[in-house]
Amino acid sequence: MGSTSRREFLKTAAGLSALATGASAVGVAQAQPLKPTPACPGAAAPTGRQTEGPYFKPDSPLRASLVEPGMAGPRIVVTGLVLSTACQPIAKALIDVWHADDRGDYDTNGYRLRGHQFTDDQGRYRLESIVPGIYPGRTRHFHVKVQAPNRPVLTTQLYFPGEAVNARDPIFSRDLVMQVTDAAGGKAATFDFVLDLGGTRPGKG
Ligand SMILES: [Fe+2]
Repeated sequence: MGSTSRREFLKTAAGLSALATGASAVGVAQAQPLKPTPACPGAAAPTGRQTEGPYFKPDSPLRASLVEPGMAGPRIVVTGLVLSTACQPIAKALIDVWHADDRGDYDTNGYRLRGHQFTDDQGRYRLESIVPGIYPGRTRHFHVKVQAPNRPVLTTQLYFPGEAVNARDPIFSRDLVMQVTDAAGGKAATFDFVLDLGGTRPGKG
C-alpha cells in the first residue's frame, strides 16, 4: 500500500470510528457481522415451542423433498431462514419435519412424509412436500424440530392461514402461521425460525 492510499485508508477509518462513536463501541477492525434480513432488523422473539404430539419418529431420512411418486395432495414448497434472536442467520441448523398425508394419516411404520435437512451457509432451508390433511381435533399443520449446531432442540408446529379449524384448535398459534401463496402446481410458503442461542455472542465463541 502506498503512502497516499494508506493516508486515505486511515482517514476513512477515522471517519468510520467517528461515525461509530456514540452508536456502539464496536471497532472498525472487527469483522463485519452478516447483514440482518429486512424481516428481522436487529432483534426477534424466539419461535414458540409446541407439543411434539404422538407421531414423531427419530432417525428420519436426510432429504429436502418429502414428495414421492404417486403421492396425492397439492404440492407445497416451504422456504425460509433459521435466525438467532440477534437476527444472525444460523448455518447447518437441523430442520426435521413430519406431517400427515392428504387424508390426515401419519406413517407410523415407515418414513413417508418425514425427513430432515440442514440450513445452508446463509441459514436458508427449502422443503418440498404436500399440503398436510386435517385430522380430527387438529387444524392443518406441519411438525418441526429445529436445532442450531450443539444447541437444544426447538420442537414446534407450523400452520396455514385462513383455515376454518384454526380457531377451534387449542394448540394453534397465530405466531406460527406461515405466509402462504398460490404457486404453479400448488402452494409456496415462507417461515423464518428464530432460535434463542442462550446468550452466546457471535464471533466470541
Ligand atoms: Fe400432528
